[in-house]
Amino acid sequence: MAQRRAPTHSVLVVCPPGLENVVADELASLGVRRTSAAKGGVTCRLTTRQLYASNLFLRCATRVLVRVARFEASSFADLEGAAAGLDWAPWLAPGVSARFRVTTRRSRLWHDKAIADRLTESLGSRPTGGAEQLVVVRAVGNRFTVSVDASGAPLHERGWRQATARAPLRESVAAGMLAAARWDPATPLVDPMCGSGTIVIEAALVSAGVAAGSGRPMALQSWPCFEPGTWASVAAEADRRRAEAGEPPPILAVDRDDGAVASARANAERAGVVEAIEWRTGAISDLLPPSSGDGPGLLLTNPPWGGRLSAAGDLRNLYATLGRVARERFAGWRIGVLVAERALARQIRPGLSEALRLEPGGRRAWLLTGPLGR
Ligand SMILES: C[S@@+](CC[C@H](N)C(=O)[O-])C[C@H]1O[C@@H](n2cnc3c(N)ncnc32)[C@H](O)[C@@H]1O
Repeated sequence: MAQRRAPTHSVLVVCPPGLENVVADELASLGVRRTSAAKGGVTCRLTTRQLYASNLFLRCATRVLVRVARFEASSFADLEGAAAGLDWAPWLAPGVSARFRVTTRRSRLWHDKAIADRLTESLGSRPTGGAEQLVVVRAVGNRFTVSVDASGAPLHERGWRQATARAPLRESVAAGMLAAARWDPATPLVDPMCGSGTIVIEAALVSAGVAAGSGRPMALQSWPCFEPGTWASVAAEADRRRAEAGEPPPILAVDRDDGAVASARANAERAGVVEAIEWRTGAISDLLPPSSGDGPGLLLTNPPWGGRLSAAGDLRNLYATLGRVARERFAGWRIGVLVAERALARQIRPGLSEALRLEPGGRRAWLLTGPLGR
């Protein structure tokens, strides 16, 4: 008897620019073989199970969008006609309203708010002030794509961030750095300039086998087509991964700023990993490896870039000190640094190679990695 194929969804996984390949690798680990990356996103086809799993497990994604319609419209009459034919029944429960986020490029219909208003009207009267479903509408020329957001709050919001030191990284970017620097979660990790602790907290969650989206609600759970049984089976997989996680490796977080260490600890407390991390206050010049466990491991950090953090900023000394300390006290380890100026990175060690090219906060940045010779 011919086997029936599970229905699939056409999906765009949105991610910070520069993390597309890491997201494609993460999708591959969920069994998604064919992906195609464009700036800021990865498109693929997912089964319902993979759609749920991608929301729960992807560490580097921002949100997962399911494409529900494509049509052409060059007038409001066309748009209204197409909107009337859309089937919202699987995606919008009766009490839920739609929030349309519209972008257009080289389109005859270019007034984003007018497009959103027409689409809202096409849904008839809906309660206001209650639950909302984000619907992303994108027009390129006259071709419209309508997608429903499966995630809800952005996926990088793991739920622990409150106390914010200056210039925090997104959790998804920290996860991308760990992956691109090829950190093995069984080996030590040190962030000597930890700020609000994003890198070490993400590392502790990874080594404990905690799914990125565990414990937070997802928009897809309120869809009329939601399959509780499939979700329960994906959640059980998350529980299994957690139960099977190995011994935690030494993870050390240091910052010279007492306030930063305090806020990072508070964040780690909320994330449930404060005990998994060794905390120290100290300058990079005094940095020593973790007190427990043997190296080698990974020294992974996001030093100040100048501009936002140190206006007068001659950062050369700081970067040179990081390089000297890394060579002298972490021989045999690997280093990964997120820098906004490649010339400065040469102060750390010449010849580091580019693992990621990112744009955090709209600024260009590179993750450079390499071994620290013995
Ligand atoms: C860009 S922030 C790190 C942000 C962090 N990745 C996060 O997600 O919150 C850089 C950090 O380096 C620390 N720092 C600057 N100079 C330092 C030094 N000489 N020794 C140790 N920490 C230093 C600052 O206090 C600041 O918290």
